[in-house]
Amino acid sequence: MEDLILVTGGAGFIGSNFVLQSIASEPARILNLDKLTYAGNLNNLRAVEAHPRYRFAQGDIVDRDFLRDLLGREQPRAIVHFAAESHVDRSIHGPDDFVRTNVNGTFSLLEEARAYWSALPELDRASFRFLHVSTDEVYGSLGPSDPAFSEITPYAPNSPYSASKAASDHLVRAYHHTYGLPVLTTNCSNNYGPHQFPEKLIPLIILNACAGKPLPVYGDGKNVRDWLYVEDHCRAIRTVLSNGRAGETYNIGGRSEKKNLEIIGAICGLLDELRPNDPAVPHSKLITFVKDRPGHDRRYAMDTRKIERELNWRPLETFESGIHKTVRWYLEHEDWVRDVTSGSYRQWMAKNYATER
Ligand code: NAD
Ligand code: TYD
Repeated sequence: MEDLILVTGGAGFIGSNFVLQSIASEPARILNLDKLTYAGNLNNLRAVEAHPRYRFAQGDIVDRDFLRDLLGREQPRAIVHFAAESHVDRSIHGPDDFVRTNVNGTFSLLEEARAYWSALPELDRASFRFLHVSTDEVYGSLGPSDPAFSEITPYAPNSPYSASKAASDHLVRAYHHTYGLPVLTTNCSNNYGPHQFPEKLIPLIILNACAGKPLPVYGDGKNVRDWLYVEDHCRAIRTVLSNGRAGETYNIGGRSEKKNLEIIGAICGLLDELRPNDPAVPHSKLITFVKDRPGHDRRYAMDTRKIERELNWRPLETFESGIHKTVRWYLEHEDWVRDVTSGSYRQWMAKNYATER
């Protein structure tokens, strides 16, 4: 086996942050396998594209022949699986791609990983890892005073997105219990930071506010999410990959529960300071309540005591420091923004924010 990590979905938001952090922090080589859907963007990886320890392969995780060939040829010591359709609103408009990539794609990857792993020499078999990156949304929705989700909270996914992720988590679990594949699963709360596609709340609000466009708040804006800066998530995944126990799942979160209106208020406050000459100041006057998302989960919260206790991981950023970095990143990367907010993005905005959602 090579000192090679196969990363799926490494051109997306979290995957690209993971690739950049891994190349900068450890000696392993990284092979990034990505289909380059609307969410995959090689500009995210400019800083490493010519690095001797980084390579890119365009491909689809559903394609078993492609996976078999790649694994046989490259001999990775680990697979870190990010590739997915990841946006709840898109899963409501069109669930097909979510089942295809998140369920069938994870199944293909598991099958080909199992075949590859089974044929490895004994020592390599023992050290191989398949790390599956998942979400807190598989646990469903919490009431205001319910305890946070722990690793033993029963699954209760409510959107096509979370149902497809839950299905993939179950398959990963079964491949450990049935075949002994050395898997690790991480379930993380909402991420934010550089490279997030501006269909998600935080980048969408930053870009709309700068452009003087309405800031769409679903429902009453009091839905709660636990926010984690993306680099903290990537560090957690690297920690689980090196020190996690095979077959275990680890919840990851920022201990930073916030209502959507608090998030939007924080972004508007920062922009008032950083961009006093924008079309609309204070930026909060752009806040616009729109029709709620169907089946909108009320609250997510993560109990992260297991990863803190067993693996000594904790977030390094506070929400205040992380959101500050994030707002600045979007303001300083106009080219990146221009590139991703072209044709298909505009069509998505028109479709999702039409009066009748
Ligand atoms: P993203 O949508 O930004 O990126 C997904 C990447 O996967 C893209 O580069 C895309 O091109 C690629 N991809 C999609 N379908 C593919 C296929 N069939 N074959 C190969 N590549 C394919 O997603 P993200 O926000 O970076 O999320 C990454 C992972 O982390 C997902 O599994 C998601 O469920 C999970 N997660 C995300 C969050 C979050 O807040 N964003 C939180 C917890 C967990
Ligand atoms: P999102 O970033 O889509 O993440 P998720 O739904 O996976 O948690 O949304 C975060 C929260 O923000 C969620 O409660 C929905 C809400 N939201 C809005 O109020 N307006 C928007 O335009 C978007 C995209 C999200």
